[in-house]
Amino acid sequence: MKQVTDKFGRPLRDLRISVTDKCQFRCQYCMPKEIFGDDYAFLPQEHLLSFEEIERLARVYADLGVKKLRITGGEPLMRKDLYKLIEKLNDIPGIEDIGMTTNALLLKKHGKKLYDAGLKRLNISLDALDSELFGQINDRGIGTSRILENIDYAISLGYDIKVNMVVQKGLNDHQIVPMARHFKDTPVTLRFIEFMDVGNDNGWNFEKVVSKEEILDMLREEFTLDPLEPAYFGEVAKVYKHRDTDSHLGFITSVSENFCSSCTRARLSADGKFYGCLFATEGFDIKSLLRSGISDEDLEDVLMGVWNKRDDQYSAIRHKITEEERKARNKINMSYIGG
Ligand code: GTP
Ligand code: 5AD
Ligand code: SF4
Ligand code: SF4
Repeated sequence: MKQVTDKFGRPLRDLRISVTDKCQFRCQYCMPKEIFGDDYAFLPQEHLLSFEEIERLARVYADLGVKKLRITGGEPLMRKDLYKLIEKLNDIPGIEDIGMTTNALLLKKHGKKLYDAGLKRLNISLDALDSELFGQINDRGIGTSRILENIDYAISLGYDIKVNMVVQKGLNDHQIVPMARHFKDTPVTLRFIEFMDVGNDNGWNFEKVVSKEEILDMLREEFTLDPLEPAYFGEVAKVYKHRDTDSHLGFITSVSENFCSSCTRARLSADGKFYGCLFATEGFDIKSLLRSGISDEDLEDVLMGVWNKRDDQYSAIRHKITEEERKARNKINMSYIGG
């Protein structure tokens, strides 16, 4: 196995693989209805990487140092027969961990097959406990009961589960404490995510961000929390433990305390482009290479070169760019790159 590093000496460790750009939800901050309407042109099937192509790429990336894979979307459970991909990925030497980020809507249907295929970790998006509010946030009127049931079901199957709550000031910040109460005596780690300016259409501004420190202040009114050391280099979340239970809480602080200096993540869009950053504007077209008949050896050389040239650190420089520059940047959409 090789050890490749980028321009800032960051190794390649994780590969986030988007398998579809579709989703049943229309969360305002990710797929606003005004843009992702009935006539929105999602990627046509033939543009998506096949499972064989994804497996091949993951094997090459594993040889370049990738140990963790994360399946994302849009909503990954909308990709047909996803368990077949997990089976393939699970067989790759060097891959130690496979996770998936999902809205959990289809977990009852697919959860067992995926677990048996080798998927062991789920990060589930849930922005509120209040059913009506959650229905507003996903903009499809889908309440929380099905998601909560599916989380319980996934726990019963043996999955290791995190819940992701994107916090927006004035929208769902009053749900922080109820969410923490709800998950406190469960095996689920609840993570509060600072609202990020992903893409160009998500209505972001600094005023809508609730920082980790603000969230901690609210939580400390009711809970006693102790910070934990990072579990590994490049861990995205800052994790705390409830002093009186075994359960954990996490914070993803891309805005208030960026973690670019330890960012070991490569991202692959569903149509086979490499992105060095969630906030990138341009991708590197791997699909065309794959379909050109390139050998694994040559492919590995190209992908190594791409990582060697990587100099992304958007969150570290966000505060240095003007509002105009930020808006003018043609960043990729969240639903296209999967977070
Ligand atoms: P694990 O730590 O492996 O469980 O997963 P994760 O937290 O990296 O993945 P997940 O898909 O659950 O992402 C949680 C939140 O962190 C989402 O809002 C992501 O967009 C965000 N996130 C993940 N990786 C990065 C990153 O490299 N940069 C930034 N800015 N945000 C990230
Ligand atoms: N800021 C922060 N997190 C976001 N997510 C989607 N859009 C944003 C945003 N603008 C989260 C989703 C999901 C994960 C992939 O990213 O809720 O949990
Ligand atoms: Fe779908 Fe997740 Fe985007 Fe919401 S945040 S629209 S659930 S992909
Ligand atoms: Fe990595 Fe870009 Fe996120 Fe920084 S902003 S941590 S470089 S993905």
